[in-house]
Amino acid sequence: KTALPGPALLLAWYDRHRRVLPWRDGIGPPDPYRVWLSEVMLQQTTVAAVGPRYTRFLARFPDVHALAGADWAEVAAEWAGLGYYARARNLHAGAKALAAQGFPHNVEGLRAIPGIGPYTAAAVAAIAFQEPVVPADGNVERVVARVARVETPLPAAKKRLAELAQGWMAEPAARARPGDFAQALFDLGATLCTPRNPACALCPWRGGCAAQAAGVQTELPRKSAK
Ligand code: ADE
Repeated sequence: KTALPGPALLLAWYDRHRRVLPWRDGIGPPDPYRVWLSEVMLQQTTVAAVGPRYTRFLARFPDVHALAGADWAEVAAEWAGLGYYARARNLHAGAKALAAQGFPHNVEGLRAIPGIGPYTAAAVAAIAFQEPVVPADGNVERVVARVARVETPLPAAKKRLAELAQGWMAEPAARARPGDFAQALFDLGATLCTPRNPACALCPWRGGCAAQAAGVQTELPRKSAK
């Protein structure tokens, strides 16, 4: 068995190579409203497409109170073209609850907000509140399936992949920087550990990647026939 690579290596890579994105690296600690908005937008829309729309949305609805107080028609108009309008409905409903009660600081509290599901709760808890939880999206699942060489196909492998990612997050280097570690996994999956032609030569986790060692990285994660 190959030893799992450490979070410290990935974080060092992230410190040098992370993408400059509008919802990152602001002054002071991350604003939970902004983290939430970016994560909802990123669920079904590419990073490139989200960038300008995120900035525009914030100009129109700068905080949770502005969004909560808006009419649905205004929110829908601002969402135009992004698709999956259920996301905008969830944002609007969530904003009303958050404006009334404030932002919960952990996964459990966030999950109780209407429209906030497990992924969004984990992303906001990790990035805005530094709770050591991994928001497992498709990028993260791909990285984990490769590094740990999980041959079980998706979706059956989901739980196992999330557990493995959570195991890395439990290590001290990751626990010290949960938001950065989560986003480092996103960036690794989006920029190097890509679906078709992963740039393994540049990967900070190359030395510990079981799929790479076996030459099966482009085959993972496997997917069940639909
Ligand atoms: N995909 C989902 N969330 C992201 C984030 N915070 N940064 C980059 N890519 C993401």
